[in-house]
Amino acid sequence: MKILGIHIGHDSSAALIVDGRLVADVADERFTRVKHYCGMPYQSIEYCLAAAGLKSSDLDVVALSSLSRITDLGYLFDIAAGTSEYILTREGRLVPIGRPVPAGGLAQLPLYISKLPLTSPTLVMHVEHHLAHAASAYYTSGHPGTQLVVTADGLGDGIPLAIWKGEQGRLTLLQSFPTSASLGWFFGNVTEALGWWHGDGEGKTMGLAPYGDPARAAGVLDPYYPKFAGGDLVEEHDFGPTHGWNEAGAYHWHMEDAGKIRKLVEQHGAEHLAAEAQRVLEEQMAAIIYPWLERVGTRNLSCAGGLFLNVKLNQRIWTSGKVDVQHIYPNPGDSGLAVGAALHAYHQLKPGSTVEGLPHLYWGPSYADEEIERVLAERHLEANFEEDIAGRVAGLLADNRIVGWLQGRMESGPRALGGRSILMSPTRAENKDIINARVKFREAFRPFCPSMLAEDAPAWLERHRPERFMITSFDAAPGRRERIPAVVHADGTVRPQTVEQDVNPLYWRLLDQFKRRTGVPVLLNTSLNIRGEPMICHPREAIRCFYDSGLDYLALGSYLLAKPGRDGH
Ligand SMILES: [Fe+2]
Repeated sequence: MKILGIHIGHDSSAALIVDGRLVADVADERFTRVKHYCGMPYQSIEYCLAAAGLKSSDLDVVALSSLSRITDLGYLFDIAAGTSEYILTREGRLVPIGRPVPAGGLAQLPLYISKLPLTSPTLVMHVEHHLAHAASAYYTSGHPGTQLVVTADGLGDGIPLAIWKGEQGRLTLLQSFPTSASLGWFFGNVTEALGWWHGDGEGKTMGLAPYGDPARAAGVLDPYYPKFAGGDLVEEHDFGPTHGWNEAGAYHWHMEDAGKIRKLVEQHGAEHLAAEAQRVLEEQMAAIIYPWLERVGTRNLSCAGGLFLNVKLNQRIWTSGKVDVQHIYPNPGDSGLAVGAALHAYHQLKPGSTVEGLPHLYWGPSYADEEIERVLAERHLEANFEEDIAGRVAGLLADNRIVGWLQGRMESGPRALGGRSILMSPTRAENKDIINARVKFREAFRPFCPSMLAEDAPAWLERHRPERFMITSFDAAPGRRERIPAVVHADGTVRPQTVEQDVNPLYWRLLDQFKRRTGVPVLLNTSLNIRGEPMICHPREAIRCFYDSGLDYLALGSYLLAKPGRDGH
């Protein structure tokens, strides 16, 4: 069974699952080069089909992560006569929505965009936004047992927060909350007040928080968020009119609270406001999640939705001691909805299928050495072919050089996981500032994250568990913080990726070779891009980044590109 998942909105994406197994998944921003691209993900769909050697007419199901009709969403498909659209309900029922889609497609397109033909047995299904989030979490958890599933974001299909039970391969909605319960919007409004993009800069608010003291702004945000107690919404918040617009391909929001909160920023200081916002978010989510764990009678938790990009929140839940299993879908924002919609469709059509785990996120395009060689030759660039690229780069990193690293399939989700990374030694505190100043050009307070050998992780992390996706933070183990100062945040936490040999052998070898040279099984790993750009996908973009930044070396597959004067230094 071949199912194409599509999300159209901010962070548009497409994903393909074949017989229940994920085959490809990519956000369209990686192709359009517009961060959080909002539009029809043509290129992602083409990529997903090509990755599996399929044509659109081979598809059994197209699963859309929204209740909005395909007629409203655009004109992508050339639909055979008689095709109908359905809402795939939580209970697994297919409810036809309105008239059949007109044959021949919905609008005329320019000749250079080809419509995708669908044959009439293809089902076009709509999966509600939060249901798709819930499915992305539950069906990648690898746990058949009873779970509490929590989905939280700004708003999707009219809902900011929903509570589910996952059991025996089925998801049941326990409660959903209205717009007035949106903690995502609250945190976004604070982010806008601090001067950043609502829907993008929330990680900066979280990163700034440890520099402040919530007591210095205690209670000042109380009028701006909904209140929860015992798992229930006890005080709604009226967010007033919302303003949104698409600017240069990306979506932006504004709410009037942001202007009022900005005055508080001026009064109390940005870092203290950020600290208070983070405190509020953690406490409110705790007041939702812990009581629901009790109500459902489980210690297993799965989460998705953009709010769970907040790694400090995830750490707090983990260290509470109230959960034994915590699975956060590592692409929890809306770019993960294509996977969620497709997984929900699969498990409804094939009830009783196994709930698989998620070994990795390398679901994007890859480029073979021959292709990289051609890209280099076209640009008259000379690069060394390295028999052992991991060993060579480990030596450069041990020598404190900054290396761009493009290897294998690109990772889905917001974190670089060794497919498209900028790497440096974590052993010198000043390396954080060096990367910020020479390569990333970003705010000095933002932390960098470590990749570490999975087998060494227990010695470096407090209350360790395997964590492949940089989706939660841990306290760095005492006595180890000083060894890796460039990746330990102001509050003593790290947000790690633990790397297993069988999951990514090349990246594991790089870490292992670095450890052999330095005694440290850890690298500073940040995404291969410059501030404000989406993560790099193609080698040509990596080359552009290399020459437009202070990177010393660029490893493209087996090829190593050096800057004149930086070689051998
Ligand atoms: Fe969402």
